[in-house]
Amino acid sequence: MAALRFATAFVFLLSFLRAIKVSKCQSFIGINYGQVADNLPPPSETAKLLQSTSIEKVRLYGADPAMIKALANTGIGIMIGAADGDIPALASDPNFAKSWINSNVIPFYPASKIILINVGNEVMTSNDQNLMNQLLPAVQNVQNALNEASLGGKIKVSTVHSMAVLRQSEPPSAGMFHPNLVQMLKGLLSFNNATGSPFEINPYPYFAYGSDPRPDTLNYCLFQPNPGRVDSNTNIKYTNMFDAQVDAVRSALNAMGFKDVEIVVAETGWPYKGDSNEVGPSIENAKAYNGNLIAHLRSMVGTPLMPGKSVDTYLFALYDEDLKSGAGSERAFGIYKPDLTATYDIGLSKSSQAPSMPKTPATAAPTPVSPASPTPTPVSPSPKPVSPSPKPNKASWCVPKVGLSAAQLQTNLDYACGHGIDCSPIQPGGACFDPNTVASHAAYAMNLLYQTAGRNPWNCDFSQTATLSSNNPSYNNCVYPAGST
Ligand SMILES: *[C@@H]1O[C@H](CO)[C@@H](O)[C@H](O)[C@H]1NC(C)=O
Repeated sequence: MAALRFATAFVFLLSFLRAIKVSKCQSFIGINYGQVADNLPPPSETAKLLQSTSIEKVRLYGADPAMIKALANTGIGIMIGAADGDIPALASDPNFAKSWINSNVIPFYPASKIILINVGNEVMTSNDQNLMNQLLPAVQNVQNALNEASLGGKIKVSTVHSMAVLRQSEPPSAGMFHPNLVQMLKGLLSFNNATGSPFEINPYPYFAYGSDPRPDTLNYCLFQPNPGRVDSNTNIKYTNMFDAQVDAVRSALNAMGFKDVEIVVAETGWPYKGDSNEVGPSIENAKAYNGNLIAHLRSMVGTPLMPGKSVDTYLFALYDEDLKSGAGSERAFGIYKPDLTATYDIGLSKSSQAPSMPKTPATAAPTPVSPASPTPTPVSPSPKPVSPSPKPNKASWCVPKVGLSAAQLQTNLDYACGHGIDCSPIQPGGACFDPNTVASHAAYAMNLLYQTAGRNPWNCDFSQTATLSSNNPSYNNCVYPAGST
């Protein structure tokens, strides 16, 4: 009896503490501040805007000193980033890592609450073997430099991955990483595990909808009433794609033994407009996705595999980035406009008393997707490809085979760019110029030639140095066309 009462009191205490945590800080809501734009407001205005919202963290892709400074004494947590192009020097030269910390962290910390340094962005899916191999040493050197500055543990170090690091994400319980990446990810995950830094990933239900544009899928992606999808291994019914994607990552981490490594959603979002041939972008959908996502996070319900807590989530994005290349939607993810008004209201403003929240998830009794039968549904024999990878399922990209020499890559680069394709994206100032390596430039050009030449198998041969891949090699603002429209 006493034990029971103790337990009851304990549970009460827990929910009490949780309630305090929810009302006092929603530190799980962050936002991405991409700066590929020429119409952004001054940093001081952006800092003021953020302070007027319940957004508690901001992710910068680089380490813009003006923005870091403007966030001083605001209490807003800041993720900063080391560029892909800095990885080779960070990896090979501990002094470069030290000077990176000396110029990008020391002058601002702790007034500016830098919480994490991202080394590179989506490097593991860049197809640049060199860069991929240098990522862990770079991460370690940044950590060492922080330790030497007595900032180890105060500021974490990690890197951001695209969902394409997963080979399989459906059903969520069967989530697994791409076998080619497992060895490298193991190193990175051991680092995450040892230093308590998170595994960061960019799930985009928006792209999953693009590859499967049915009304039920849209509702599933937007946290709106839908039949749900049953994970046949666990019999868990998922009612939204976000949870399913995050749990697929959880499963993949668990399968490798990293049950304690925390997941952070470094990017997720929905564009409010796009080109006429894009499915999904609209103000209504963007508002529903982001608004319902925030409501979901605030509810603290968690995901089926991680109940009772909300995964730290950085919305994409603060403003439109008008200088981005690629599809129209790439320039239309902004939740705020450069004049600091909201593109659409999702109740982020602190002053909005009763925020007009979009409809919260499925309370309507949904019909199960597969009828609840007494015999367990068999595990689907053929694993589906990763549907949330940022392009339709059937899309494929032509990529260089692993282990090519620089000379072979250069030959392919010259060949491809000599055949009438537009190689300006890999020239200085182009979206795909960085990392400025022959491997990266060749990969871009080879794919573009393949897509342009008609996407026949023989267009992706390059004297048997190329192969087709279903992993989208796009990164940052560099979009590798898939030509599957
Ligand atoms: C994670 O770290 C803990 C202790 O910090 C250690 O006991 C455990 O073995 C590590 N897990 C893996 C998979 O390396």
